[in-house]
Amino acid sequence: MCGIVGYVGKERAAPVLLEGLKKLEYRGYDSAGIATLSAGKLQVAKRKGRVEGLASAAQTLQGNIGIAHTRWATHGAPSERNAHPHVYRGIAVVHNGIIENAKELREECEAKGEVFSSETDSEVIAHLIAETYRGDLLLAVKEGTARLKGSYAIAVLCEGAGNVIAAAKRGSPLLAGKGERCVLASDLPAAAAFAKEVYALKDGEFALLKGNEVRLFDGELNEIRREPLKFDLKEEDGGKNGFSHHMLKEMAEIPASIANSLVNLQAKSRFSPICIVLCQTYYIQIVACGTAYHSGVAAKAAIEALSRVPVEVCIASEYRYRDPIVRKGTLVIAVSQSGETADTIAAAKCAKEKGAKVLALTNVPYSSLTEVCDFCIYTHAGREVAVAATKSFMAQLAALFSLASALAELKGRSAPPLAPFPALAEDALARSERVKGWAKALRSAKSVYFIGRGYDYAAALEGSLKLKEVSYLPGEGYPAGELKHGTLALVGADTPVVAIVGDKRIAEKTMNAVHEVRSRGARVFLVTTIEDLGAGILPLEDILTLPSCEAVFSPLLTVIPLQMLAYETAVLLGNDPDKPRNLAKSVTVE
Ligand code: M6R
Repeated sequence: MCGIVGYVGKERAAPVLLEGLKKLEYRGYDSAGIATLSAGKLQVAKRKGRVEGLASAAQTLQGNIGIAHTRWATHGAPSERNAHPHVYRGIAVVHNGIIENAKELREECEAKGEVFSSETDSEVIAHLIAETYRGDLLLAVKEGTARLKGSYAIAVLCEGAGNVIAAAKRGSPLLAGKGERCVLASDLPAAAAFAKEVYALKDGEFALLKGNEVRLFDGELNEIRREPLKFDLKEEDGGKNGFSHHMLKEMAEIPASIANSLVNLQAKSRFSPICIVLCQTYYIQIVACGTAYHSGVAAKAAIEALSRVPVEVCIASEYRYRDPIVRKGTLVIAVSQSGETADTIAAAKCAKEKGAKVLALTNVPYSSLTEVCDFCIYTHAGREVAVAATKSFMAQLAALFSLASALAELKGRSAPPLAPFPALAEDALARSERVKGWAKALRSAKSVYFIGRGYDYAAALEGSLKLKEVSYLPGEGYPAGELKHGTLALVGADTPVVAIVGDKRIAEKTMNAVHEVRSRGARVFLVTTIEDLGAGILPLEDILTLPSCEAVFSPLLTVIPLQMLAYETAVLLGNDPDKPRNLAKSVTVE
């Protein structure tokens, strides 16, 4: 959801900034831009489209200080005019976030005769800073940002202020790093790629980058000292490692992600902070968005089945606006791959205010969510570059299922082992080759339905989201038994149905729905962990039998071919599965 970079050093800034933008491109890729300062004058290059399209325009940019931006449009269509940096009276600004009072502020500025050159909410920041600038850039940034409502991480260059970048953060992530050179970046891997020591700014703080010095300031501009972050980023170079796409590479990493994420909470001391809270937990609320929400749906089924603790799964963007009921003994689990999803962070904050203990389950150390929550479990899936979550979803499932098992044991119940799942997932991946044939049938479909009951429902939801996201085919994930209550009216020869069955107990019930849709002309593809299911009913090539496993954890296997199906369909349709249209990996605005 927009990535920002800043650089001060000895080298020409533009190539370093381009490198930084490439690392952040997962956050948005509808336009990109760079501003540098050369001999005290701003030079700007912007382009609509992806970062690579900016490279030739950036060749002319001189100077060894600059700021840069890759955009995911919120206010104003993707265009060169709306691309950042926005420049007004010698002030250049890049912004990640949303300014909620931009309209009023813009009208105020226009009433004073100021002219705007874009439709963005962000441009007003350049105007406010320019209005207050009297020779002290940091002070002008403090005063200018004081009027903003909403969220922002900004980097600012100013003609006449010397070779310095000022930065401010509220609600959107920002890191500053130093070494031979100084950098700003929206995430840790991008900052760590250029600097040895990296500092995370907190909300309401400011930074100044000059020479090889980073200085941090609190809201009153008192200088603050902070320990650099401790991190061990085995720099995954972000490359595709021989795979045609990141999405495919990341799916190949699923077995390892599951293995890394299995948290042996049972073995932890019963007196560890998380276990103490689990002992006192009588209700759970899971807050999350998108794919992470679907891991919550799967976790609800597992936690309730294994521990009998009731679980509510809440779409994070709905949570705080419905005045949620948080009873004594409620544990709220905020699930987020990036740890930067604004809706999930807002829900976690709301739950804390209401007295809940809040556990963050995230893949990204030092992400904003970890700041808000009482405890944290990392999913250790490794960096995920493709916008569509694949291995990170599996890692979320593994961690949540571990939590379900731990809770069950603390409540005096037993749970099946999770240890076989990395190997089972390896087997499921190998068997998923079969879906290549299914993709050919899907590419001309009008819409595609995914159906499942009980433990399979979460898989149906996720299979459908993945397909929509990368292939742009409409459809729905639906409870198999609910289809006949209305949605069946939409089913016919041009609406293939993917049925998921990971639980023997309800297999025949889901197969009833299979018969119903087939009678209406739909071709059915069956993903199952149950030997011989569907034989004699469906053509063999339309059945994918996965290794059998404990039903309660079966989404760890059944979702794998669904992800593969989405990928193969996207490729057949000529889409870029790594960067689907209109989307960004990390959604840092509400
Ligand atoms: O980083 P998060 O897990 O909080 O992201 C939540 C959703 O935006 C995310 O899962 C989104 O739905 C994915 N693109 C799905 O593949």
